[in-house]
Amino acid sequence: MESGYSRVAVIDFGGQYAHLIARRLRELGVYSELVPAAARGDALEAVDRYDAVVLSGGPQSVWEAGHDDIALKALSSGKPVLGICYGHQLLGKVAGGLVSRSPYPEFGPTEVEILEPGDPLFRGMPQRFTVWMSHNDAVLEPPRGWRVLARSRGSPVAAMRLGPAVGVQWHPEVSHSEYGFELLGNWLDSWGAVRGWRPEGLIDVLAEYVRREVGEGVAVAAVSGGIDSTVAALIARRALGERLKPVFIDHGLHPSGEVERVTRLLASVGLDPIVVDASHEFLGALRGVVDPEEKRRIVGKIYGEILLREAKRLGATALVQGTIYPDVIESGARPGADTIKTHHNVGGLPDLGLKIVEPLRYLYKDEVRRIARQLGVPEEIIKKQPVPGPGLAVRVEGEVTLEKLAVARMADRIVREEIEAAGLGEALWQYFAVLTASKATGVKGDARSYGYVVAVRAVHSVDAMTARPARLPWELLERIAHRITSEVPGVVRVVYDITSKPPATIEWE
Ligand code: XMP
Repeated sequence: MESGYSRVAVIDFGGQYAHLIARRLRELGVYSELVPAAARGDALEAVDRYDAVVLSGGPQSVWEAGHDDIALKALSSGKPVLGICYGHQLLGKVAGGLVSRSPYPEFGPTEVEILEPGDPLFRGMPQRFTVWMSHNDAVLEPPRGWRVLARSRGSPVAAMRLGPAVGVQWHPEVSHSEYGFELLGNWLDSWGAVRGWRPEGLIDVLAEYVRREVGEGVAVAAVSGGIDSTVAALIARRALGERLKPVFIDHGLHPSGEVERVTRLLASVGLDPIVVDASHEFLGALRGVVDPEEKRRIVGKIYGEILLREAKRLGATALVQGTIYPDVIESGARPGADTIKTHHNVGGLPDLGLKIVEPLRYLYKDEVRRIARQLGVPEEIIKKQPVPGPGLAVRVEGEVTLEKLAVARMADRIVREEIEAAGLGEALWQYFAVLTASKATGVKGDARSYGYVVAVRAVHSVDAMTARPARLPWELLERIAHRITSEVPGVVRVVYDITSKPPATIEWE
């Protein structure tokens, strides 16, 4: 065991909540990492490298998946093992119990009854409580020698133990399970886990990961001035020193003043970027294109080409990206997830022939924020609202032209200025203007005019997975509408978007 904290591997069998297990364990003060079961060698090796092993849930049946060797190795290691759902059934199967289809498959809230209240797993818990289940199969009879600790209607062996190995059929990692967090904490305490790990410790672990992935080579980091790419680049800088080259590609689709602000902020944390002005290339490639996904693909493609050109020029072999966990899910990079939008920092980048290094891939935004503060990233970057990779290309509906970009920039600047002057900027997740593809009639002076409709979007959100429209003061909205229609040529109407996500997305395209 390393000094100061224990390390727990979560072997990921593809369960929806596997990442949550690792996250909860980190919150409980041990270091925990996901190890995909599909990388069989890594998973087997993890049993040796870590102090304890969690076998996660998974979508398959233990009879079809063929992960027995991992569970057997975990059991024979004598180390603490916790099987959850699929992991629990896998322990049941390899140790010789009866695992089969449950007479009552359980989905959702389910009552469990504790049969061995003296087991350390259940310290401080009542005899019955409600947990989150999601399974067809169940352990129907325990393997020989294992004690049955709990049961439910559909799971005669809802929890079981043999020495340092335990299995639970339910998902203690999800917030719908009562006493879930306590159960994981009790499990750690039951084997004397050292709970001294703090998120800040992650910086060294992640830097070590980057060092290992990049080896002796040079890496480029595509920086945007957003928190994710800044933190990823800073970690890589720590790992690689000057062998890390931050590159900022100016695609000409940034909001007003963004390029100057971003380069200044990055320089202030020691990441003075190489700025590549490529606006002509992007605008040329976007000419005549109206389909949103096509626009994203084109921006992603050109972005990749330019990055590759820079990487070659700099002699780089690896690309450091600030992909975080929600990006991975929304881009459908996990099996079974749908592609919602092609985020160009994940799915949209063509294969560049560079090694992709993503130190933040398993982290949530709030974890990245904590690390950012620890690394001394200025609040202006930490609190900066996200700008989509394709920038204003997805905030100008339809074809992107220089003229429309200018209109969108001016309108957007007014929205920002007014919301910030009202002191509301910090309370909002994002606020911006969209140049819609609609045209409408207006009257300016004495003449009728026919011009653009600008939509204003301002939302509250915690993680961008869901969002609700902000209830901006009416006077503020009227002031924004008045300024945009009088100061931005060609705009005759301003509307406010009051749709939540879902069903809408935050961006319009
Ligand atoms: P949506 O519009 O899908 O956006 O609700 C969720 C969050 O992601 C941002 N976004 C992007 N970020 N590349 C990015 O890096 C993209 O292509 C992209 N599209 C949307 C959006 O601003 C919001 O914060």
